[in-house]
Amino acid sequence: MDAPPPLHAGIVWSSLFSKPTFSWDDIARIRRTTDLPIILKGICHADDARRAAAEGVDAIACSNHGGRQANGGLPAIGHLEEVLDGVSSAGLPVTFDSGVRDGVDILRVVGLGATLAGIGRPYVYGLTIGGAEGVEHVVRSMLAEADLTMAADCLTSLADLRVVKR
Ligand SMILES: Cc1cc2nc3c(=O)[nH]c(=O)nc-3n(C[C@H](O)[C@H](O)[C@H](O)COP(=O)(O)O)c2cc1C
Repeated sequence: MDAPPPLHAGIVWSSLFSKPTFSWDDIARIRRTTDLPIILKGICHADDARRAAAEGVDAIACSNHGGRQANGGLPAIGHLEEVLDGVSSAGLPVTFDSGVRDGVDILRVVGLGATLAGIGRPYVYGLTIGGAEGVEHVVRSMLAEADLTMAADCLTSLADLRVVKR
């Protein structure tokens, strides 16, 4: 007897995650299909960052996807600097997300050298509570906090940001 549709959907879904469906070879394949920029997401190691640059991606997204699929895994923020080092000679932009929760987190990420900070769940929380206005409120609040923090610390441009390492 055939599996009922919901169960079948579950089996197909789990099969997608049970084997590595993407490899480095796919970057060349994707490159052939589009002139759009390719941003490779999920890089948290300098060797992978170097390999990605050599494969011709346009930017790297340093991310552990918010730790959603591996709670307790290595925090992506601990790997941002090595990823930046890995691509410094190639000059690729490096974005960062995973755990950015407020304006100060944005400043920390940019201060470490990321091109931009991305947010995942905070905007979803805003969407859940207040729809599009909720998302706008979350983003405005985070930017306002970043702005206020820069003003309070006499930082007049993002170039002034330096994260102090202890
Ligand atoms: C409900 C949900 C679904 C997600 N799905 C994907 C996905 O399909 N592919 C992916 O690369 N990242 C996915 N992410 C991760 C986000 O793109 C992003 O990297 C992450 O949420 C950022 O971390 P933060 O939530 O701590 O801000 C998902 C995140 C959430 C909350």
